[in-house]
Amino acid sequence: MPFARNQWYVAAYGEDIGDALFGRTICGEPILFYRTADGRVVGMADRCVHRRYPLSAGSRVGDRVVCGYHGFTYDPDGSCVAVPGQSRVPRTARVPSYPVVEQDSLIWVWIGDAAAADSAAIPRAPWLDSPDYTTVRGMEPLAARYELLVDNLMDLSHETYLHAGYIGTPEVAQTPITTETDEDAGVVYARRRMKDVECPPFYANSTGIKGRIDRWQDIEYRPPCLYLLHSRIAPTGLEPGPDGDDSAANHAEIVYAITPETEHSTFDFWMVARDFARDDEEVSAFLAESNRTVVLQDVTALNLLEQAIAAEPEGYQELSINIDTGGLAARRMLHRLIEQS
Ligand code: FES
Ligand SMILES: [Fe+2]
Repeated sequence: MPFARNQWYVAAYGEDIGDALFGRTICGEPILFYRTADGRVVGMADRCVHRRYPLSAGSRVGDRVVCGYHGFTYDPDGSCVAVPGQSRVPRTARVPSYPVVEQDSLIWVWIGDAAAADSAAIPRAPWLDSPDYTTVRGMEPLAARYELLVDNLMDLSHETYLHAGYIGTPEVAQTPITTETDEDAGVVYARRRMKDVECPPFYANSTGIKGRIDRWQDIEYRPPCLYLLHSRIAPTGLEPGPDGDDSAANHAEIVYAITPETEHSTFDFWMVARDFARDDEEVSAFLAESNRTVVLQDVTALNLLEQAIAAEPEGYQELSINIDTGGLAARRMLHRLIEQS
């Protein structure tokens, strides 16, 4: 499956990009990122116009990049300003530059026709740099196509089996989901509301709740890249009905950015923002370690799936059931984005 182009993708966390030259392939395109002296993040093709040498293997002189092979020198907008051995710089000496926006602590890059980039269309994840939330996060590379990660995140019933002892309890797989699609806004919602259920260690150890809980999992996927899981955890009885006020609950905003590197590899950015035990560093360390473990369980599973798909005969048919409605809706929306691009 090709990529949805003319879309924004998360390339990195804000703190990943500094003075150093940072190369990363997104949707098959090698891109160089760095921060200029005024703090702006720039992106340009990571391939010298001369002999293709990766610019990320070169060096910086002020805000300029010098190719590490023969010294072609580029401005932050990708235009070449100096070449060795001659004073005239060829008119065509420039590399494509990429629209980049830093928002909600994430570095977003536009893949596609640069003239069509609209930064107002970037989906928001305001908890990530809100003073009311504490966030832990990381990124794990995946040797699997990004659609497998979309499937995985849209169907949390797998928590019961793949993540038992962490975030999975029997009730997750037992509770049906409701799925809703907003075509105009480009969002797929999948909701699972659990009443009077067991509290998994992930939340028991972080919230300090002792007994049984009400637990909400409200997924909001904004294809292609941003996945939000609005997770609510409250001692059972405290959580009101579906349309009620949820302020008595603990809020965990679980954010994933699903960024294709190539057709068969993906960056799995994971973030857990919480509004409880906010200054408790032990809770931060516990959540970071637990969530990383959970993500690595997914990574192992999805890498296996990628190998299974690569080895299977043409025309293999999957079997889908009710738990897959969220994933199927996400696939439909992704396909439409790919067709449009
Ligand atoms: S490859 Fe970059 S200057 Fe030659
Ligand atoms: Fe998982």
